[in-house]
Amino acid sequence: MELTDTEVEALNSHGYFVRDAFLGEARALAVRAAALARVDAGTLKPAGIRRGADHTLDTSVRGDHIEWVLPGATPELEALWHRFQALGEAVSAGAYLGLGRFDVQLARYPGGGAHYARHRDAFPGRSNRRITAIWYANADWKPEHGGVLRLFPEDTGAPVEVAPVLDRLVVFLSERLEHEVMPAHASRLALTAWFYGRGT
Ligand code: OGA
Ligand code: MN
Repeated sequence: MELTDTEVEALNSHGYFVRDAFLGEARALAVRAAALARVDAGTLKPAGIRRGADHTLDTSVRGDHIEWVLPGATPELEALWHRFQALGEAVSAGAYLGLGRFDVQLARYPGGGAHYARHRDAFPGRSNRRITAIWYANADWKPEHGGVLRLFPEDTGAPVEVAPVLDRLVVFLSERLEHEVMPAHASRLALTAWFYGRGT
């Protein structure tokens, strides 16, 4: 996998890029089905805010349910995991970001206005998440379903909205880009990879 010049330029100047058809429709639908099976298994847990001893639940901040995805989870989820791995290598090579390991999380907003308040995924200067890559799995998404991702690029300050449609990938700098998930009025599925710097 390689980043296009436009993607590299967008990442450097605006802190993000969006790529459609990341897997291709057939594979995307298979990953969606595998993700839905995880949801139906009932093992996703309400996401907390803050880590460790400060861990707390607050649906006024964050209303999704989550589960970590390991490489061997299912063949379909493993295929996405390998695409994320290739993406990390492409971002490292194309944008000179030394990315190393990554974690993958499945997140589902159940609808009913569930959202995630404006935040960043990492804070500058800590050995931390460097790149966030979110892949959406919503095959029948319509504007009335909400759950749009709103990004706040530093360079323009004008918010950008990204609809969470099937097989769309959004990649951004975890330390730099503030973002929020607008209220979701239908079930909303995403798989996110967070890439760390090398040696962390
Ligand atoms: C997150 C997040 C955005 C999205 O999980 O940190 O910001 O569009 N998700 O799912
Ligand atoms: Mn986030």
